[in-house]
Amino acid sequence: MALDEFLVELDGLTDSATESLNAALDVDSLEAVRIDLLGAKSGRLKALQKGLAAIDSAEKPVAGKRFNEAKQKIEAAYAAAKERLTFAVAQQSAAGFDPTEPGCKPILGHLHPITQTIEELKDIFARLGFSVADGPEIEDERHNFEALNIARSHPARDPLDNFYLQTATKSAGPERSEWLLRSQTSTVQIRVMDETPPPVRIVSLGRVYRPDTADATHYPMFHQIEGLLVDTDVTMADLKSVLRMFCSSYLGEDVHVRFRPSFFPFTEPSVEVDMRWQDGWIEMGGAGMVDPNVFEAVGYDPEKVTGFAFGLGVERLCARRYGITDIREFFKNDVRFLHQF
Ligand code: DAH
Repeated sequence: MALDEFLVELDGLTDSATESLNAALDVDSLEAVRIDLLGAKSGRLKALQKGLAAIDSAEKPVAGKRFNEAKQKIEAAYAAAKERLTFAVAQQSAAGFDPTEPGCKPILGHLHPITQTIEELKDIFARLGFSVADGPEIEDERHNFEALNIARSHPARDPLDNFYLQTATKSAGPERSEWLLRSQTSTVQIRVMDETPPPVRIVSLGRVYRPDTADATHYPMFHQIEGLLVDTDVTMADLKSVLRMFCSSYLGEDVHVRFRPSFFPFTEPSVEVDMRWQDGWIEMGGAGMVDPNVFEAVGYDPEKVTGFAFGLGVERLCARRYGITDIREFFKNDVRFLHQF
């Protein structure tokens, strides 16, 4: 091919290329033009480059230089067209966005009713000056029984009434260890008093475990709220007024609280706590004045301090408020039930 002819073709291609690149209306058609012009296999520029080989060797440097210039020009026109179209796409979608339109509300889950109740109880007791303490669900016998004045012979320690963990021994098969899933949150009283000198004012909320057969009022796992207040000159009247304020806050009305004499190894005297709500009395749990033996077990001087403790069932509190009659509903995880809270 003669140089003249080559240059005419090159100029023609450059002009038409620039024109079609500038004319492209969207990203897709721009891509089609790019492949037609600059495609590595059968692009028009590639085809012209093959013509270079046939040019007289004396004229090759000029032809090569002009070819490269043309290629750069076409590539620059392509880059400009691409930027123009991408910017247009961004602008278009921005134009379609109306910030004043109400958004689509995504479907969100929410906290389980028992968790909601726990959070609410924490809030109420925080307002009454109680801080939250925590304890492990796997406990030893000292925290679950001994320090709580529950003697070794007490029926509450029966292996049939507790989830003891087993230790595997090589020769004789598994053996009962001194570890168990705690059967009550009263364990946390001991943990707190072991670690802090009086005064104490805590609540502790969490799971407890007992090998009960599940029915409408029993479940092998449930939640308790434990309270402990230790100071000088604490009396039953303080216990009653704290529980009354709590019940009134939780149920939102002036609730009566009634004590019935009872027995717990860790309190003396001990009471069952009932509250009156909607014309009926509801049993809420146990309470009492901390037994001096418990103070001694944690190194407190029972001559100097007095205190009260209480333990209430969280499921019961939640069920009463919503009129739920079967505790198993809480743990089936049927979304039709859970959605209501
Ligand atoms: N721990 C008892 C139970 O699980 C409830 C209880 C009763 C807790 C009296 C207390 C208390 O702190 O003083 O049945």
